Amino acid sequence: MLVTYLLFVAASLIKEISATAVFAHFMAQNSYSYSQADWANDINSAANIGIDGFALNIAANDYEVPKIDDAYAAAEAHGNFKLFYSFDLSYSWDYNVMATIVAKHANSSATYRWKNNVLVSTFSGEAQGDAWWAAFKNACKAKGVVQAFPSIDGFFNWWSWPDDTNTNLTTATDLAYQTAIKTRTGPYIMSVSPWQFKELGGGNNWVELSDTLWKYRWEQAINDVKPDIVEIVTWNDYGESHYISDINPRVDLGTLAPNYVNGFDHSPWRIIAQYYISWYKNGVAPKLTNDQVIFWYRAHPKNAVCSGGDVPRNSAYPVDAVFAMALLADSATISLDIGSKHAQWNASPGVSIGSVPFPPEDSQIPYIQIIKNGATAKSGYGSVYVTKSCSYYNFNPFVGHIST
Ligand SMILES: *[C@@H]1O[C@H](CO)[C@@H](O)[C@H](O)[C@H]1NC(C)=O
Ligand SMILES: *[C@@H]1O[C@H](CO)[C@@H](O)[C@H](O)[C@H]1NC(C)=O
Repeated sequence: MLVTYLLFVAASLIKEISATAVFAHFMAQNSYSYSQADWANDINSAANIGIDGFALNIAANDYEVPKIDDAYAAAEAHGNFKLFYSFDLSYSWDYNVMATIVAKHANSSATYRWKNNVLVSTFSGEAQGDAWWAAFKNACKAKGVVQAFPSIDGFFNWWSWPDDTNTNLTTATDLAYQTAIKTRTGPYIMSVSPWQFKELGGGNNWVELSDTLWKYRWEQAINDVKPDIVEIVTWNDYGESHYISDINPRVDLGTLAPNYVNGFDHSPWRIIAQYYISWYKNGVAPKLTNDQVIFWYRAHPKNAVCSGGDVPRNSAYPVDAVFAMALLADSATISLDIGSKHAQWNASPGVSIGSVPFPPEDSQIPYIQIIKNGATAKSGYGSVYVTKSCSYYNFNPFVGHIST
């Protein structure tokens, strides 16, 4: 899963940009059955939480190209939503074809521009081979990243999870790329992701420690890195479990991903995104007007033996617990229960996080409460039971939420 984004700028054009923008990575491959209305839906849903546009991950010069025409039509109709391409070079591309695709909408009002230039990003993935990317990363480190790539003006570091290690992600790589790109005209684009888990057979079975990533990664962006652009990884990559969009039933998830995606809603993560997007853009945490708790948890303890799939790489890393983030207007006690386990904390206005471990009892469901002045102001349950039996190795969390 060693993947790297290179970013470059092409074709000088019109229009100013804001220095802080938030994009979400959109898998155009998943638009096969999309109508323009589906695009409009996604665009409205993203724009509602402050996302400025989509980075369109395009894998091939086929059905995706006319689907992207619909995306442009929907974004133009919205009037305040931008698009740029992220060519997926783990597939074979002819750069002349890429140039034609970019030129087609280059003058659209929905085309994102960085310092008047059309911004184009690329993705190259595991198809290049792990050794090739490891060598590339070493070469980048040795050379200060960009000297080896004079055509690159900016940089997007796709990597937004701990890398096969039971430690939290640091900003070291982000700061190194950001420093390396300072002499260029392009932006440093920092990726922020909520989760990483894939269970698609062959060698494609892994999880990265993501328990509290959606909180601390945003705070790294806001407090430490302050990148030119944040790119949320992703809007709709279901197979790697980092989608924050609704699960659109019109998307073909293939044969294996439905085992861990169907029923595992992530949409409440957008509430957290909205909070941090506002903070990132305005430089101050937004004032909250109600009390909310967003919680997430896996459906099985990590040592559960399942009848289908494979034990993912790094399965020992995630903590067996229900995690919960409070976004509060007023102080409250946040209470978490599951089976015989209980946890609570007194939370101040703003953001805080807590967790309760999975209980010894089987088939339990979390119960979450916001308590004020000794009385429950709001409570709710998860929608998925935590069970020790399972038909597929699933480390993708269910995300729920309660609000006053
Ligand atoms: C965009 O518009 C400009 C000015 O009208 C024109 O010169 C240029 O050729 C157009 N570019 C494309 C790719 O159509
Ligand atoms: C990661 O950070 C969280 C706080 O965000 C902390 O509770 C947790 O212990 C850390 N995990 C590791 C493995 O250091």
